[in-house]
Amino acid sequence: MYLVYWPKFDPFLETWRALKHLYKEGHVRVIGVSNFEAHPYFNQHVLHNYLTELGIQHQSWSPLGRGAVLQDETLQGIATRYGVSVAQVILRWHIQHDVAVIPKSGNPARIDALQRGERIMGAQDQNYTEDLW
Ligand SMILES: NC(=O)c1ccc[n+]([C@@H]2O[C@H](COP(=O)([O-])OP(=O)(O)OC[C@H]3O[C@@H](n4cnc5c(N)ncnc54)[C@H](OP(=O)(O)O)[C@@H]3O)[C@@H](O)[C@H]2O)c1
Repeated sequence: MYLVYWPKFDPFLETWRALKHLYKEGHVRVIGVSNFEAHPYFNQHVLHNYLTELGIQHQSWSPLGRGAVLQDETLQGIATRYGVSVAQVILRWHIQHDVAVIPKSGNPARIDALQRGERIMGAQDQNYTEDLW
């Protein structure tokens, strides 16, 4: 298996073409991509639909946009409405769209809150973030 490990956009297409060449020449059996971000500012819904058609589970690395999405005013409004954190809203948004999430926090209180958030949000309206998709 030979994967593009990280999306560097300038040489990406060239890299992908090189992988396809190796595949066609029989040098590798499987080619693919890995570790591409997905978050509310980069929702990847076209790719998501394609993966769904192929039966491939979409996973989001950096699902919180590495913290960059946490200041979004719309998301903050939703979080206030539901009494949860913006991070919880974002993770719930991913999960509602069948995207597996790999978030990171070095803060034990935040990790605990994220786990509780999943249960809290699961019991409420499932459509509140539909407009973001
Ligand atoms: N293998 C790969 O190539 C690859 C590629 C991408 C990502 N990853 C891994 O995927 C995991 C997640 O990616 P990531 O760390 O880049 O991005 P992320 O999970 O989207 O964002 C992490 C950032 O969000 C902050 N954060 C988390 N919960 C928060 C909360 N409740 N409120 C405010 N801030 C919060 C964290 O700060 P605090 O720590 O201060 O809470 C951290 O700065 C990591 O383990 C990363 O190593 C791997």
